[in-house]
Amino acid sequence: MKAAILGFGTVGSGVWKVLHENKDRVEKAVGEPVMVTRVLDLRDFPGHPVEPSLVKSFEEIEDDPQIDIVIECMGGIHPSYEYVSSALEKGKAVVTSNKELVASCGAKLMEIAYQHQTDFLFEASVGGGIPILNTLRLGLVQEKIDSIEGILNGTTNYILTRMEKEGLPYEQILKDAQALGYAERNPEADVMGYDACRKIAILASMISGKTVRYEDIPTEGITEVSLQDIEEARKDGKRIRLVAKAALTEDGVTASVRPERIREDHPLAGVQGVFNAVLIHGNMVGDIMLEGQGAGKEATASAVVSDVIYALKQRRNGLYEPVCWTEQICPVNA
Ligand code: HSE
Repeated sequence: MKAAILGFGTVGSGVWKVLHENKDRVEKAVGEPVMVTRVLDLRDFPGHPVEPSLVKSFEEIEDDPQIDIVIECMGGIHPSYEYVSSALEKGKAVVTSNKELVASCGAKLMEIAYQHQTDFLFEASVGGGIPILNTLRLGLVQEKIDSIEGILNGTTNYILTRMEKEGLPYEQILKDAQALGYAERNPEADVMGYDACRKIAILASMISGKTVRYEDIPTEGITEVSLQDIEEARKDGKRIRLVAKAALTEDGVTASVRPERIREDHPLAGVQGVFNAVLIHGNMVGDIMLEGQGAGKEATASAVVSDVIYALKQRRNGLYEPVCWTEQICPVNA
């Protein structure tokens, strides 16, 4: 089967790496080999094995009937939305790591995919390498999920935990997070809480079945958290973490993103570095916690490739997923 990657940055090149290094596993899981035949990027990569596959225009991908799946790793809404919707309309499956796109246009894109009997999947948009969406979509599909609470941004958790241990101000540690490929292109999205807000909007939409608009979620980042705040919390037996929450109510959801002082024995207090964690409460199963690397090239790419395998298996079997949530707006209560 043939795949195209849109964007050869941190995530796109990670997807290339996972598909090549774990080629045999991928082939076994899908039932046939998967080849990346086209990669869209405006840059050149002289000497890199990707070179012969590079293309400069999306038309070369959408007009190629041999491409079964498009892997969107560009980020942002435009032109990602146009490329993804066009690929779906041509019957190709699409996988993305783009939380901005999913939080803003997820319902619409799932509907287009459904109408064209294909899949639009986005595991890597929340929690990096943690299989959170697939857990909700497959393992917990039978559950009514009442609430989800978690640490959903790797950069800010990396910053807060290093501030805790090393007593350095956040601006200094942010530079390391950028060098390690954790932070967004504009790191304001991380430190202001916007990235975690989009991720909790996606999770809240999953559990409510309707669109939870990220603009409706009260959001506060870590820019006001000082070393003194961290020290005072420590003296009280607490730690500061950027916590994102959503819970079902009778007529909608409650949701928020803000730095919280949490007791040292709380499961989220032990989450260190770039790790994310999610506590899920289901009405039958009770509490579940998932923890893992929330950002970074390989972890995020691994989640993308899990969707690639799933979508290609579905395609081989003539199957496609129902939409996870509709375009109907879900009220957000404070
Ligand atoms: N900047 C994001 C984070 C990347 O730090 O969590 C993964 O979505």
